[in-house]
Amino acid sequence: MGITRRQLLGGAALGAGGAIVGAGAGVAGVNAATPAPPGPTGGDTEPFYGTHQSGIATPVQAHAAFTAFDLDADADRASVARLMRLLSDDAARLMRGEPALADLDEELAHAPSRLTITFGFGPRLFDVIGRADKRPSSCAPLPDFSIDALQERWSGGDLLIQICGDDRVSVAHARRMLWKDTESFATQRWLQQGFLDARGTHEPGTTPRNLMGQVDGTVNPRTPEEFDEVVWSGGPPDWFVGGTMLAIRRIAMDLDTWDAVSRADRENTIGRRLTDGAPLTGDAEFDAPDLAAEGPDGAPVISDFAHIRRAATGGGAPFLRRGYNYDLGQDASGRTDAGHIFTAYAADLDTQFVPVQQTLADLDLLNLWTTPIGSSVFALPPGAPEGGWVGEGLLG
Ligand code: HEM
Repeated sequence: MGITRRQLLGGAALGAGGAIVGAGAGVAGVNAATPAPPGPTGGDTEPFYGTHQSGIATPVQAHAAFTAFDLDADADRASVARLMRLLSDDAARLMRGEPALADLDEELAHAPSRLTITFGFGPRLFDVIGRADKRPSSCAPLPDFSIDALQERWSGGDLLIQICGDDRVSVAHARRMLWKDTESFATQRWLQQGFLDARGTHEPGTTPRNLMGQVDGTVNPRTPEEFDEVVWSGGPPDWFVGGTMLAIRRIAMDLDTWDAVSRADRENTIGRRLTDGAPLTGDAEFDAPDLAAEGPDGAPVISDFAHIRRAATGGGAPFLRRGYNYDLGQDASGRTDAGHIFTAYAADLDTQFVPVQQTLADLDLLNLWTTPIGSSVFALPPGAPEGGWVGEGLLG
């Protein structure tokens, strides 16, 4: 794992300059605003077939619907293979802007708006299909962290369907079509829906903001080389080469108490400026933070407890963050029910993600306002070749 944080910042600078954003490879502008050409963008498509599944290195879209399913009690390798053939076929159609096979609302399919459909396998699926020996080593529930207040209704799952797109109607249509495919094989366990800025809201290359107002997604892999190093698995197991692991954490934000925090304290919590996301030691978003810098009083400019210091020195390795905001309004007690659907895509969660999460659980100012309430892990198979289906290397 030779990629450093400085390199990830460097790649980002390219994106910020617009030189490689939207370069067509579907890689360069991940987590940054995608150019909106004049006129309707509903016809824009992303490829379903390829070495890797879309929806991971794809420049981030405005909407997401993550659905986890529990496989039925009578599921086995043959039935899961049938399901994945069906799902892959419909996903390829929908991403092309064509109706699903049994689509009664075919007009809803005609504006895919960069729809991507990405499949993942939860830890138990490998037992169900009798292939426990083919489970990637980090495809297991995450360890317990002291900050967790996990709820069953946002956690676990045997099968994941991640649907992202720039149009909410297209995402909703695809979700329902694919749910119909699963109906006789599995039941929905949870649905997490999220959003980012609408496409075209900001200049291309702009990093989105989360609901705490912070620029979120600066330090991330962006170039194909960085994705090869950080995100795509090289195996074992053999069938997983070109796939990636995904940890989804639903993180509630206490926005009501955050409202009472001064701007200076908000900036110290992360270690970056609110206005432009620049590190407190720098001038621009993609400047490398100087963790050794001290203020006139001798105290570190970026606090020992700041999120970026803790995350950067957490002993893990880089991974891709491609999260979405959620907002369900006020709960029964009147408190704001909003937060972040945090996603970490990594070749190996145990060595890249878990050490960072452990360090943040031990100490991070952000923990005063954030609480993980859901946690799931999935193995996202490599992409399917034209005419093939996702998961064929495991199930075929
Ligand atoms: C709701 C919860 C969270 C919020 C609001 C949040 C917010 C942020 C922000 C604003 C940044 C700085 C800009 C950037 O590089 O993107 C950042 C950086 C980062 N965050 Fe988080 N984060 C959250 C949870 C997490 C979790 C759970 C992890 C991992 C377990 C994590 C890992 C990181 C990493 C690795 C960086 C880059 C650090 C660096 O190298 O500078 N974050 N986060």
